[in-house]
Amino acid sequence: VTFDLVLVGFGHVTRRFVGLLAEYRSDLLRQHGITTRVVGIGTRRHGCAYAAEGLDAEGLAGNQRDRPIGEPFDGPTIDFVTQSVRKAAAAAHEGRLVVVEATTLDIGRGEPATGHIRAAIEGGAHVVTCNKGPVAFAYRQLAIAAERAGRRLLFEGTVMDGVPIFNLARETLPAVTVVGFRGVVNSTTNYILTAMEQGQPFAEALAEMQAMGVAEANASLDIDGWDAAAKTAALANVLLGASMTPHDVERRGITEETGRRAVEARAAGRRLKLVARAGREGSVIAARVAPEELPEEDLLAGLEGRQNALILHTDLLDEIAVVQRSASLTQTAYALLSDLITIARDTPQSLRQGQQGHTL
Ligand SMILES: NC(=O)c1ccc[n+]([C@@H]2O[C@H](COP(=O)([O-])OP(=O)(O)OC[C@H]3O[C@@H](n4cnc5c(N)ncnc54)[C@H](OP(=O)(O)O)[C@@H]3O)[C@@H](O)[C@H]2O)c1
Repeated sequence: VTFDLVLVGFGHVTRRFVGLLAEYRSDLLRQHGITTRVVGIGTRRHGCAYAAEGLDAEGLAGNQRDRPIGEPFDGPTIDFVTQSVRKAAAAAHEGRLVVVEATTLDIGRGEPATGHIRAAIEGGAHVVTCNKGPVAFAYRQLAIAAERAGRRLLFEGTVMDGVPIFNLARETLPAVTVVGFRGVVNSTTNYILTAMEQGQPFAEALAEMQAMGVAEANASLDIDGWDAAAKTAALANVLLGASMTPHDVERRGITEETGRRAVEARAAGRRLKLVARAGREGSVIAARVAPEELPEEDLLAGLEGRQNALILHTDLLDEIAVVQRSASLTQTAYALLSDLITIARDTPQSLRQGQQGHTL
Protein backbone atom coordinates (compact mmCIF):
# COMPACT_ATOMS: atom_id res chain seq x y z
CA VAL A 1 0.00 0.00 0.00
CA THR A 2 1.32 3.44 -0.81
CA PHE A 3 0.03 5.95 1.70
CA ASP A 4 -0.16 9.51 0.46
CA LEU A 5 0.55 11.94 3.28
CA VAL A 6 -0.42 15.56 3.69
CA LEU A 7 1.62 17.18 6.47
CA VAL A 8 -0.03 20.16 8.14
CA GLY A 9 2.70 21.89 10.13
CA PHE A 10 6.33 21.31 9.20
CA GLY A 11 8.20 21.94 12.43
CA HIS A 12 10.36 19.88 14.78
CA VAL A 13 8.06 16.87 14.95
CA THR A 14 7.05 16.52 11.30
CA ARG A 15 10.63 16.99 10.11
CA ARG A 16 11.75 14.20 12.44
CA PHE A 17 8.79 12.08 11.25
CA VAL A 18 9.97 12.52 7.65
CA GLY A 19 13.41 11.38 8.81
CA LEU A 20 11.93 8.28 10.48
CA LEU A 21 9.97 7.39 7.34
CA ALA A 22 13.27 7.38 5.44
CA GLU A 23 15.22 5.50 8.11
CA TYR A 24 12.54 2.80 8.41
CA ARG A 25 11.60 2.68 4.73
CA SER A 26 12.69 -0.91 4.19
CA ASP A 27 11.21 -2.15 7.50
CA LEU A 28 7.89 -0.48 6.71
CA LEU A 29 7.76 -2.23 3.38
CA ARG A 30 9.00 -5.60 4.61
CA GLN A 31 7.05 -5.82 7.86
CA HIS A 32 3.92 -3.84 7.06
CA GLY A 33 3.74 -3.64 3.29
CA ILE A 34 3.71 0.15 3.41
CA THR A 35 5.38 2.74 1.28
CA THR A 36 4.74 6.43 1.82
CA ARG A 37 4.79 9.53 -0.29
CA VAL A 38 4.41 13.08 1.03
CA VAL A 39 2.12 14.83 -1.43
CA GLY A 40 1.34 17.98 0.53
CA ILE A 41 2.92 20.21 3.15
CA GLY A 42 1.19 23.21 4.70
CA THR A 43 2.63 25.79 7.07
CA ARG A 44 1.43 29.07 8.48
CA ARG A 45 4.19 31.47 7.41
CA HIS A 46 6.44 29.36 5.19
CA GLY A 47 4.08 28.60 2.35
CA CYS A 48 2.41 25.41 1.18
CA ALA A 49 3.22 22.83 -1.47
CA TYR A 50 1.35 20.04 -3.22
CA ALA A 51 2.55 17.56 -5.83
CA ALA A 52 0.55 14.47 -6.78
CA GLU A 53 3.73 12.59 -7.66
CA GLY A 54 5.25 13.38 -4.26
CA LEU A 55 7.41 16.16 -2.81
CA ASP A 56 11.04 15.93 -1.78
CA ALA A 57 10.05 15.96 1.89
CA GLU A 58 13.46 14.77 3.08
CA GLY A 59 15.19 17.57 1.22
CA LEU A 60 12.72 20.14 2.59
CA ALA A 61 13.08 18.74 6.13
CA GLY A 62 16.84 19.22 5.90
CA ASN A 63 16.51 22.89 5.00
CA GLN A 64 16.81 25.70 7.53
CA ARG A 65 13.56 26.40 9.37
CA ASP A 66 13.26 29.89 7.86
CA ARG A 67 13.39 28.65 4.23
CA PRO A 68 9.98 28.62 2.48
CA ILE A 69 8.36 25.23 1.83
CA GLY A 70 6.46 26.43 -1.19
CA GLU A 71 4.39 29.28 -2.52
CA PRO A 72 2.55 31.52 -0.07
CA PHE A 73 -0.99 30.15 0.27
CA ASP A 74 -3.76 32.65 -0.32
CA GLY A 75 -6.31 31.91 2.39
CA PRO A 76 -6.64 30.01 5.66
CA THR A 77 -4.72 26.73 6.02
CA ILE A 78 -8.02 24.88 6.42
CA ASP A 79 -8.58 25.67 2.73
CA PHE A 80 -5.17 24.20 1.94
CA VAL A 81 -6.23 20.96 3.64
CA THR A 82 -9.58 20.93 1.82
CA GLN A 83 -7.91 21.52 -1.54
CA SER A 84 -5.18 18.95 -0.89
CA VAL A 85 -7.55 16.15 0.07
CA ARG A 86 -9.70 17.02 -2.95
CA LYS A 87 -6.67 16.74 -5.23
CA ALA A 88 -5.81 13.42 -3.59
CA ALA A 89 -9.41 12.18 -3.90
CA ALA A 90 -8.39 8.89 -5.52
CA ALA A 91 -6.12 8.00 -2.59
CA ALA A 92 -8.80 9.16 -0.13
CA HIS A 93 -11.35 6.96 -1.87
CA GLU A 94 -9.06 3.96 -1.50
CA GLY A 95 -8.45 4.65 2.20
CA ARG A 96 -4.76 5.44 1.72
CA LEU A 97 -4.70 9.18 2.27
CA VAL A 98 -3.48 10.34 5.69
CA VAL A 99 -3.41 13.91 6.95
CA VAL A 100 -0.77 14.43 9.64
CA GLU A 101 -1.78 17.36 11.86
CA ALA A 102 1.23 18.75 13.76
CA THR A 103 0.63 22.46 14.03
CA THR A 104 1.11 24.51 17.15
CA LEU A 105 -1.16 24.00 20.15
CA ASP A 106 -3.77 26.76 20.37
CA ILE A 107 -4.89 26.81 23.97
CA GLY A 108 -7.74 29.24 23.29
CA ARG A 109 -9.94 27.00 21.12
CA GLY A 110 -7.78 24.28 19.58
CA GLU A 111 -8.02 25.97 16.18
CA PRO A 112 -7.30 25.92 13.32
CA ALA A 113 -6.11 22.38 14.02
CA THR A 114 -9.62 21.10 14.74
CA GLY A 115 -10.76 22.63 11.43
CA HIS A 116 -7.81 20.98 9.63
CA ILE A 117 -8.89 17.60 10.97
CA ARG A 118 -12.55 18.15 10.17
CA ALA A 119 -11.64 19.11 6.58
CA ALA A 120 -9.39 16.06 6.29
CA ILE A 121 -12.11 13.67 7.47
CA GLU A 122 -14.72 15.31 5.25
CA GLY A 123 -12.39 14.71 2.32
CA GLY A 124 -12.06 11.01 3.16
CA ALA A 125 -8.60 11.08 4.75
CA HIS A 126 -7.47 9.30 7.88
CA VAL A 127 -5.89 11.61 10.44
CA VAL A 128 -2.97 11.20 12.80
CA THR A 129 -2.01 14.02 15.11
CA CYS A 130 0.32 14.88 17.96
CA ASN A 131 -1.47 18.19 18.53
CA LYS A 132 -3.39 18.07 21.80
CA GLY A 133 -5.78 20.86 20.83
CA PRO A 134 -8.29 18.91 18.74
CA VAL A 135 -8.56 16.00 21.21
CA ALA A 136 -8.69 18.36 24.19
CA PHE A 137 -11.36 20.63 22.66
CA ALA A 138 -13.40 18.57 20.23
CA TYR A 139 -12.71 14.87 20.65
CA ARG A 140 -16.29 13.68 20.61
CA GLN A 141 -17.36 15.56 17.48
CA LEU A 142 -14.22 14.55 15.60
CA ALA A 143 -14.47 10.91 16.66
CA ILE A 144 -18.11 10.78 15.50
CA ALA A 145 -17.20 12.42 12.18
CA ALA A 146 -14.36 9.94 11.63
CA GLU A 147 -16.54 6.98 12.48
CA ARG A 148 -19.27 8.14 10.11
CA ALA A 149 -16.71 8.59 7.35
CA GLY A 150 -15.18 5.16 8.04
CA ARG A 151 -11.79 6.72 8.68
CA ARG A 152 -9.37 6.60 11.63
CA LEU A 153 -8.48 9.49 13.91
CA LEU A 154 -5.41 8.56 15.95
CA PHE A 155 -3.52 10.76 18.38
CA GLU A 156 -1.04 8.66 20.38
CA GLY A 157 1.55 11.46 20.34
CA THR A 158 -0.64 13.89 22.23
CA VAL A 159 0.27 12.41 25.63
CA MET A 160 3.67 10.94 26.56
CA ASP A 161 4.88 10.94 22.96
CA GLY A 162 5.15 7.44 21.49
CA VAL A 163 4.59 5.60 24.76
CA PRO A 164 1.29 3.76 24.34
CA ILE A 165 -1.46 5.25 26.45
CA PHE A 166 -4.45 5.50 24.13
CA ASN A 167 -3.36 2.35 22.27
CA LEU A 168 -2.97 0.54 25.59
CA ALA A 169 -6.49 1.43 26.68
CA ARG A 170 -8.09 0.88 23.28
CA GLU A 171 -6.33 -2.30 22.20
CA THR A 172 -5.39 -4.19 25.34
CA LEU A 173 -7.98 -3.58 28.04
CA PRO A 174 -11.25 -5.08 26.80
CA ALA A 175 -14.06 -4.86 29.38
CA VAL A 176 -11.91 -2.73 31.68
CA THR A 177 -13.30 0.66 32.69
CA VAL A 178 -10.85 3.45 33.43
CA VAL A 179 -12.36 5.39 36.32
CA GLY A 180 -9.64 7.99 36.78
CA PHE A 181 -5.95 8.74 36.40
CA ARG A 182 -3.10 10.74 37.81
CA GLY A 183 0.31 11.43 36.38
CA VAL A 184 3.21 13.69 35.57
CA VAL A 185 2.64 14.45 31.90
CA ASN A 186 4.73 17.55 31.16
CA SER A 187 8.46 16.97 30.62
CA THR A 188 9.54 20.61 30.73
CA THR A 189 8.13 21.35 34.18
CA ASN A 190 9.43 18.08 35.64
CA TYR A 191 12.86 18.87 34.22
CA ILE A 192 12.80 22.38 35.71
CA LEU A 193 11.68 21.15 39.15
CA THR A 194 14.36 18.45 39.34
CA ALA A 195 17.03 20.82 37.97
CA MET A 196 16.11 23.40 40.61
CA GLU A 197 16.40 20.73 43.32
CA GLN A 198 20.02 20.45 42.17
CA GLY A 199 20.62 24.20 42.27
CA GLN A 200 20.07 25.16 38.63
CA PRO A 201 18.20 28.45 38.04
CA PHE A 202 14.63 28.24 36.68
CA ALA A 203 15.32 30.28 33.52
CA GLU A 204 18.42 28.24 32.62
CA ALA A 205 16.58 24.91 32.92
CA LEU A 206 13.72 26.27 30.78
CA ALA A 207 16.14 27.55 28.14
CA GLU A 208 17.69 24.05 27.90
CA MET A 209 14.29 22.51 27.18
CA GLN A 210 13.54 25.18 24.57
CA ALA A 211 16.90 24.62 22.87
CA MET A 212 16.11 20.89 22.63
CA GLY A 213 12.72 21.55 21.02
CA VAL A 214 10.97 19.83 23.94
CA ALA A 215 9.44 22.95 25.50
CA GLU A 216 6.57 24.53 23.63
CA ALA A 217 7.57 27.59 21.59
CA ASN A 218 5.37 29.63 23.94
CA ALA A 219 6.89 28.85 27.38
CA SER A 220 3.68 29.77 29.23
CA LEU A 221 2.02 26.67 27.80
CA ASP A 222 4.38 24.49 29.84
CA ILE A 223 5.10 26.67 32.87
CA ASP A 224 1.52 27.74 33.54
CA GLY A 225 0.26 24.18 33.28
CA TRP A 226 -1.65 24.66 30.02
CA ASP A 227 0.08 21.79 28.24
CA ALA A 228 -0.67 19.48 31.17
CA ALA A 229 -4.26 20.75 31.29
CA ALA A 230 -4.68 20.04 27.56
CA LYS A 231 -3.33 16.52 28.07
CA THR A 232 -5.61 16.05 31.07
CA ALA A 233 -8.64 17.13 29.04
CA ALA A 234 -7.58 14.85 26.16
CA LEU A 235 -7.15 11.87 28.51
CA ALA A 236 -10.45 12.60 30.28
CA ASN A 237 -12.32 12.96 26.99
CA VAL A 238 -10.96 9.73 25.53
CA LEU A 239 -10.56 7.48 28.57
CA LEU A 240 -13.35 8.74 30.83
CA GLY A 241 -15.86 9.80 28.20
CA ALA A 242 -15.77 13.42 29.40
CA SER A 243 -16.67 16.41 27.27
CA MET A 244 -14.29 18.95 28.70
CA THR A 245 -11.79 21.46 27.41
CA PRO A 246 -8.48 22.53 28.99
CA HIS A 247 -10.38 25.49 30.45
CA ASP A 248 -12.48 23.10 32.56
CA VAL A 249 -9.33 21.74 34.23
CA GLU A 250 -8.52 23.42 37.53
CA ARG A 251 -4.96 24.60 36.89
CA ARG A 252 -1.89 25.85 38.71
CA GLY A 253 1.53 25.83 37.04
CA ILE A 254 5.06 26.24 38.40
CA THR A 255 7.01 29.37 39.32
CA GLU A 256 10.42 30.12 40.84
CA GLU A 257 8.65 29.83 44.20
CA THR A 258 7.46 26.29 43.32
CA GLY A 259 11.13 25.48 42.64
CA ARG A 260 12.10 26.71 46.11
CA ARG A 261 9.33 24.56 47.60
CA ALA A 262 10.68 21.59 45.64
CA VAL A 263 14.08 22.09 47.28
CA GLU A 264 12.49 22.20 50.74
CA ALA A 265 10.35 19.15 50.03
CA ARG A 266 13.41 17.20 48.89
CA ALA A 267 15.26 18.11 52.09
CA ALA A 268 12.28 16.73 54.05
CA GLY A 269 12.35 13.43 52.11
CA ARG A 270 9.45 14.34 49.82
CA ARG A 271 9.18 15.51 46.18
CA LEU A 272 7.14 18.30 44.64
CA LYS A 273 5.65 17.35 41.26
CA LEU A 274 3.23 18.95 38.82
CA VAL A 275 0.49 16.33 39.01
CA ALA A 276 -2.37 15.99 36.52
CA ARG A 277 -5.41 14.09 37.70
CA ALA A 278 -9.02 13.41 36.80
CA GLY A 279 -11.78 11.17 38.04
CA ARG A 280 -15.48 10.91 38.68
CA GLU A 281 -16.85 12.93 41.56
CA GLY A 282 -20.51 11.98 41.75
CA SER A 283 -22.02 12.60 38.35
CA VAL A 284 -19.27 14.95 37.15
CA ILE A 285 -15.69 14.40 36.04
CA ALA A 286 -13.31 16.66 37.93
CA ALA A 287 -9.85 17.38 36.55
CA ARG A 288 -6.90 19.27 38.03
CA VAL A 289 -3.27 20.16 37.34
CA ALA A 290 -1.30 21.47 40.31
CA PRO A 291 2.01 21.08 42.17
CA GLU A 292 1.61 18.33 44.79
CA GLU A 293 3.99 17.27 47.51
CA LEU A 294 4.35 13.50 47.34
CA PRO A 295 5.87 10.94 49.70
CA GLU A 296 9.13 9.51 48.39
CA GLU A 297 7.64 6.05 47.82
CA ASP A 298 5.01 7.41 45.41
CA LEU A 299 5.83 6.26 41.87
CA LEU A 300 5.43 9.82 40.59
CA ALA A 301 7.92 11.09 43.18
CA GLY A 302 10.66 9.02 41.58
CA LEU A 303 10.46 10.75 38.20
CA GLU A 304 13.65 12.59 37.30
CA GLY A 305 14.33 15.13 34.57
CA ARG A 306 12.11 14.71 31.54
CA GLN A 307 10.52 11.48 32.77
CA ASN A 308 6.73 11.18 32.70
CA ALA A 309 4.31 8.63 34.12
CA LEU A 310 0.61 7.99 34.06
CA ILE A 311 -1.30 5.82 36.51
CA LEU A 312 -4.69 4.63 35.29
CA HIS A 313 -7.25 3.74 37.94
CA THR A 314 -9.42 0.91 36.67
CA ASP A 315 -12.26 -1.26 37.91
CA LEU A 316 -10.80 -4.68 37.11
CA LEU A 317 -7.04 -4.17 37.19
CA ASP A 318 -6.76 -1.62 39.98
CA GLU A 319 -3.84 0.67 39.06
CA ILE A 320 -1.85 0.37 35.84
CA ALA A 321 1.24 2.57 35.61
CA VAL A 322 3.12 3.50 32.46
CA VAL A 323 6.48 5.24 32.83
CA GLN A 324 8.32 7.15 30.13
CA ARG A 325 12.00 7.17 31.05
CA SER A 326 13.05 9.75 28.50
CA ALA A 327 11.30 12.08 26.09
CA SER A 328 12.58 13.12 22.70
CA LEU A 329 11.46 14.39 19.34
CA THR A 330 12.06 10.94 17.92
CA GLN A 331 9.55 9.54 20.40
CA THR A 332 6.89 12.02 19.30
CA ALA A 333 7.67 11.34 15.66
CA TYR A 334 7.43 7.62 16.43
CA ALA A 335 3.90 8.20 17.74
CA LEU A 336 2.91 9.47 14.29
CA LEU A 337 4.64 6.50 12.69
CA SER A 338 2.95 3.98 14.98
CA ASP A 339 -0.45 5.56 14.26
CA LEU A 340 0.25 5.30 10.54
CA ILE A 341 1.11 1.61 10.93
CA THR A 342 -2.10 1.10 12.95
CA ILE A 343 -4.08 2.58 10.08
CA ALA A 344 -2.32 0.35 7.58
CA ARG A 345 -2.88 -2.72 9.74
CA ASP A 346 -6.48 -1.98 10.56
CA THR A 347 -7.65 -0.74 7.20
CA PRO A 348 -10.10 -3.49 6.28
CA GLN A 349 -9.31 -5.32 3.10
CA SER A 350 -12.73 -4.43 1.70
CA LEU A 351 -12.02 -0.72 2.20
CA ARG A 352 -8.48 -0.99 0.92
CA GLN A 353 -9.67 -2.70 -2.20
CA GLY A 354 -11.84 0.35 -2.60
CA GLN A 355 -15.12 0.78 -4.31
CA GLN A 356 -13.17 0.88 -7.57
CA GLY A 357 -12.06 -2.70 -7.06
CA HIS A 358 -8.45 -1.58 -6.75
CA THR A 359 -6.28 -4.14 -4.94
CA LEU A 360 -3.59 -2.51 -2.83
N1 LIG B 1 8.17 19.07 20.18
C1 LIG B 1 7.79 18.06 20.94
O1 LIG B 1 8.61 17.39 21.57
C2 LIG B 1 6.33 17.67 21.01
C3 LIG B 1 5.95 16.58 21.79
C4 LIG B 1 4.61 16.18 21.81
C5 LIG B 1 3.67 16.89 21.10
N2 LIG B 1 4.07 17.99 20.38
C6 LIG B 1 3.05 18.74 19.65
O2 LIG B 1 3.31 18.60 18.27
C7 LIG B 1 2.91 19.77 17.57
C8 LIG B 1 4.08 20.26 16.71
O3 LIG B 1 5.18 20.55 17.56
P1 LIG B 1 6.55 21.09 16.95
O4 LIG B 1 7.53 21.08 18.06
O5 LIG B 1 6.85 20.39 15.70
O6 LIG B 1 6.12 22.61 16.62
P2 LIG B 1 6.94 23.70 15.78
O7 LIG B 1 8.34 23.26 15.57
O8 LIG B 1 6.67 25.01 16.43
O9 LIG B 1 6.20 23.67 14.34
C9 LIG B 1 4.86 24.00 14.19
C10 LIG B 1 4.52 23.95 12.72
O10 LIG B 1 3.13 24.21 12.59
C11 LIG B 1 2.94 25.26 11.64
N3 LIG B 1 1.74 26.00 12.01
C12 LIG B 1 1.49 26.66 13.14
N4 LIG B 1 0.27 27.18 13.12
C13 LIG B 1 -0.27 26.84 11.92
C14 LIG B 1 -1.49 27.09 11.29
N5 LIG B 1 -2.40 27.84 11.87
N6 LIG B 1 -1.69 26.56 10.08
C15 LIG B 1 -0.75 25.83 9.46
N7 LIG B 1 0.44 25.56 10.00
C16 LIG B 1 0.67 26.07 11.22
C17 LIG B 1 4.18 26.10 11.72
O11 LIG B 1 4.32 26.86 10.56
P3 LIG B 1 5.23 28.19 10.55
O12 LIG B 1 6.61 27.74 10.98
O13 LIG B 1 5.18 28.65 9.13
O14 LIG B 1 4.60 29.12 11.53
C18 LIG B 1 5.24 25.01 11.87
O15 LIG B 1 5.52 24.45 10.60
C19 LIG B 1 2.44 20.77 18.62
O16 LIG B 1 1.03 20.74 18.70
C20 LIG B 1 3.07 20.24 19.90
O17 LIG B 1 2.30 20.55 21.04
C21 LIG B 1 5.37 18.37 20.31
